[in-house]
Amino acid sequence: MLSAAARFSLYYSVMARTYKIEVCLGSSCFSRGNRDLIKSIKDYLRKRHLEERVNFRGARCLDRCSSGPVIMIDGDIIEDVSVSNIEKILDTHLM
Ligand code: FES
Repeated sequence: MLSAAARFSLYYSVMARTYKIEVCLGSSCFSRGNRDLIKSIKDYLRKRHLEERVNFRGARCLDRCSSGPVIMIDGDIIEDVSVSNIEKILDTHLM
């Protein structure tokens, strides 16, 4: 069983967790759907009150053009991202 101090430390580390999401804004990904993903990701973060915990930004080409659109979450590149699968991807990565 954890002590009160250990529980607080664990709780604080979970609650303070921050994430970095980068959306590829290279011409290939942008024309294949990342333009729409930006709005979907912003909506997702707003609805779940995660804006303060996520550093959300655009990125230059991530060299995966043929597998795009791509995004990067905390350094992990995720391929074939679309408006239809972005919520599931974010649910998986932002836990
Ligand atoms: S344009 Fe997105 S990986 Fe190249």
